[in-house]
Amino acid sequence: MNIINTADGSHTIFLPAMNEQYHSVNGAITESEYVYIDKGYRFCNVSHPIVFEVGFGTGLNCLLTAVEAGKMQRKTRYISIERFPLSSEIIGQLNYGRLISAEADKIFEKIHTARWNTEIQISPFFSLLKIEADLLQFQPVFAEKCDVIYFDAFGPDKQPEMWTPAVFSKISGLISDGGIFVTYSAKGEVRRNLTTSGFVMERLPGPPGKFQMLRGIKQMANI
Ligand SMILES: C[S@@+](CC[C@H](N)C(=O)[O-])C[C@H]1O[C@@H](n2cnc3c(N)ncnc32)[C@H](O)[C@@H]1O
Repeated sequence: MNIINTADGSHTIFLPAMNEQYHSVNGAITESEYVYIDKGYRFCNVSHPIVFEVGFGTGLNCLLTAVEAGKMQRKTRYISIERFPLSSEIIGQLNYGRLISAEADKIFEKIHTARWNTEIQISPFFSLLKIEADLLQFQPVFAEKCDVIYFDAFGPDKQPEMWTPAVFSKISGLISDGGIFVTYSAKGEVRRNLTTSGFVMERLPGPPGKFQMLRGIKQMANI
């Protein structure tokens, strides 16, 4: 596991054994901000949304959402599932908080020191529930439906078992009608699997270095 610099100066993690990064080398913060915050979180018009993330990883999407929730003064609950939590040694080297602001740096520390499997209030507008579990085995432990899904697993070519109709049906069961699904992948098979699982899909222009990304809206069950 190596920490590398991406084009906007923010770090990402490279896994040599998988030949895969956690984020785009064209800019980790730039990609997260564009795909998840702009096309997902800001696009959702629910006043107090619940966000569900697949793949907590470095906590970058979580941090950017917490910062945005504070700016918008929008009460937000964030639930994230992670099978392989990163060590505090790795987390301590990541530069996201420092690059954004002193306040963001404090939030970054709070989200990483927050206990797993317990909902924690991180700031006046942001609570976090980190779930340590394998999405493939996961049985939801929260009653409410989510409003936004950030689907940030490793790529479909590297981790095909995460992008199947069975997984997307499970995800579809977690989200409210009209809820928003966003992912950095634009693969045709992914789009088709999401359509089969009840989402109306659109391709959007991608972040730097990626031609397109996907966004879906959960259809009402009886349509
Ligand atoms: C592309 S990385 C993105 C992580 C994170 N969103 C970030 O910004 O750092 C994918 C993440 O999904 C996690 N993951 C892989 N398989 C998983 C599974 N079956 N269930 C839950 N998380 C998984 C990985 O450990 C990794 O942290």
